Amino acid sequence: MKAIVYTEYGAPEVLHLAEAPQPTPQTNEILIRVRAASVSFGDLLARNFGNVSADEFNMPAPLYFLARMAFGWSKPRQPILGSEFAGEVAAVGDAVTRFKPGDAVFGYRGQQMGAYAEYLVMREDGMVTHKPANLGDAEAAVAPYGGLTALTLLRRVNLRPGQRVLINGASGGIGSAAVQLAKARGAHVTGVCGAPRRAYVQALGADEVIDYTQEDFTQRDETYDLIVDVLGRSSFDRCRRALTPDGVYFPVSFKMKAVMQMLWTKAASRQKVICAFSDEKSADLELLKEMIEAGSLKSIVDRCFAMEHAAEAHSYAESGHKQGPIVILFQRK
Ligand SMILES: NC(=O)c1ccc[n+]([C@@H]2O[C@H](COP(=O)([O-])OP(=O)(O)OC[C@H]3O[C@@H](n4cnc5c(N)ncnc54)[C@H](OP(=O)(O)O)[C@@H]3O)[C@@H](O)[C@H]2O)c1
Repeated sequence: MKAIVYTEYGAPEVLHLAEAPQPTPQTNEILIRVRAASVSFGDLLARNFGNVSADEFNMPAPLYFLARMAFGWSKPRQPILGSEFAGEVAAVGDAVTRFKPGDAVFGYRGQQMGAYAEYLVMREDGMVTHKPANLGDAEAAVAPYGGLTALTLLRRVNLRPGQRVLINGASGGIGSAAVQLAKARGAHVTGVCGAPRRAYVQALGADEVIDYTQEDFTQRDETYDLIVDVLGRSSFDRCRRALTPDGVYFPVSFKMKAVMQMLWTKAASRQKVICAFSDEKSADLELLKEMIEAGSLKSIVDRCFAMEHAAEAHSYAESGHKQGPIVILFQRK
């Protein structure tokens, strides 16, 4: 099969199309013919991991070292990127009951990656389910990662109708789902993003959009019950005046300082800090599919690139000009 591989860390040009062994499904696995895979934060990070320092890594330093070991210290261990995908079941193992050849599916592989290929295998009870009937392949391929992460993280807060929520990083994988999940719960949502992605965040349903290059939301005369800070580019200290007296600052990416703030605010402050890890389960992907089919979650794609142009797709994703999610298509006659 053809796959987009990389054997060294670096710029988008390290990605190239090559022949790779086609996986064979075990008895409880399904073989999936991949139609589309997204260009996510994780793909961009993993592609260039060798050049990312512990300081630049958005999570606590111990996780940086664990992730570097897992991904490969000096060169990538897993040569095929791609954590979320949509495709079609090509074959099933003898014990598989949920799927049959021809079923349209979508799913999430997390750090296991491997979706930038014509074929992949998934356990039938893994993070894979039938594709939402109302989405095309490209739209389905950008839904799982952000949807699952936002869904499981927002369970940590008791969001109520009418509350005011600000998502700092509303145009990315997690933020775009968080905007919609908060709207679905009846919140008033303000999205913060870069200028080229304003229209995208508006289309997701945000009530207000702030361009972070023009305005610092913490300096506004507005307060929020919940501030979700996807990249942790702000801080609890800066956000305090923008939080209601019982407001919550929720950095999705956090360092040890925020963990310490979570501990002391739990005991000694009405305003709280919450740091948490997503813990998605297969049932959450099913729930995501139902929400998409019910119209509570949209999936909008900016541009699709053929697999031969994967490096271009990564360049565009990093250019600052993209207007929404980017997809790589794996189509064949
Ligand atoms: N806690 C967990 O369990 C968990 C799980 C998964 C991932 N994460 C973390 O989540 C992060 C990735 O999130 P993602 O996939 O949503 O990333 P993403 O798709 O790259 O989106 C990043 C978002 O941040 C915005 N942004 C960039 N610079 C900004 C700034 N200076 N101020 C405000 N916003 C800014 C971007 O806006 P524009 O693009 O419009 O400029 C975009 O909306 C990583 O740090 C990862 O470690 C945490």
